[in-house]
Amino acid sequence: MAAQIGTNLEEAAAWLNRGEVIAIPTETVYGLAGNAFDLEAVTKIYKVKNRPFFNPLIVHCANLAQIKQLVTEFPDAAKRLASVFWPGPMTLLLPKRPEISDLVTAGSPLVAVRIPQHGLTHELLGMLNFPLAAPSANPFGYVSPTTAQHVANQLGDQIPYILDGGSCQIGLESTIIGFDKPGTVTVYRLGGISVEDLMRATGYKVEIHTHENLHPIASGMLENHYAPGKRLYIGNSINQLPAELRDSRIGAIRFHTHSPELPKDHQFLLSFDGSLEQAAKNLFLALRTLDGVDFDCILAEPLPDEGLGKAINDRLRRASAK
Ligand code: TXA
Ligand code: MG
Repeated sequence: MAAQIGTNLEEAAAWLNRGEVIAIPTETVYGLAGNAFDLEAVTKIYKVKNRPFFNPLIVHCANLAQIKQLVTEFPDAAKRLASVFWPGPMTLLLPKRPEISDLVTAGSPLVAVRIPQHGLTHELLGMLNFPLAAPSANPFGYVSPTTAQHVANQLGDQIPYILDGGSCQIGLESTIIGFDKPGTVTVYRLGGISVEDLMRATGYKVEIHTHENLHPIASGMLENHYAPGKRLYIGNSINQLPAELRDSRIGAIRFHTHSPELPKDHQFLLSFDGSLEQAAKNLFLALRTLDGVDFDCILAEPLPDEGLGKAINDRLRRASAK
């Protein structure tokens, strides 16, 4: 049975109240959501995504009051970040109360929480009397979905409903933040809130810890995550491709200018005017689009390493690791 795609909040809420798993829109990417307090629903999320149980889920909440019922501490830095960036593309790691199951946090004493900013999902969360556990609504390891159709293409036969909120405004997953050191915010996954904005908002030092492969705290930390099916290389010129691929069919992801080395219709421009926000919004669509064409490989231009460019480069790097 194929998932129904629609905008009916009563229907979405009814499925969730029955312990089902549905897709919901957020400003970052679409999520695969279920009642965070219902272990069967949470188990279904892992199954549908084919996600290993050691990889914990973000809990999406309607407001700060709901979050405070899930955590035992809310440090000052978290308060400041919450007041500036929520609702929005930021996830905080905070000590969990026992009501949050180890299945949700994969055994960690910390729970990942966020208040998403999307009209439909915000309303939906307000109709429910539980928060929603939700990873990105893609099969484990693949590129995250930024439209309802992306979800339908890959998970449509496994879930009953996809709440259609249009294409995601930000297009990159949330920035994941922890508070392990006083005076410091630690970024575990680069995302929709830039490092510069975090520093401005807190005045704190920002440490980036996104590459700890041996002991990943966030699956976004695993290399070879967010990967399309085709081999992806990072570079400005086809000379940076392995020699045997330079004469092959090459699809390119470019920031805002075409490469003179390739036909224009083999190139996906992320932005028309060099906006990193627009590039972020289009990145996953570009990866999916080129993945769906009969190219032999994808050549992606690195973006300026500032603002959202840092998170975009991070996703490209992970997509390129094999
Ligand atoms: O923007 C987003 O964050 C999207 C939307 C749907 O909210 N969600 C998302 O979820 O990207 P997911 O599951 O694809 O990525 C969440 C990341 C994973 O890398 C996971 O390991 C990490 O958050 N995470 C979740 N709970 C955690 C915890 N308790 N401790 C450490 N990392 C955690
Ligand atoms: Mg994901």
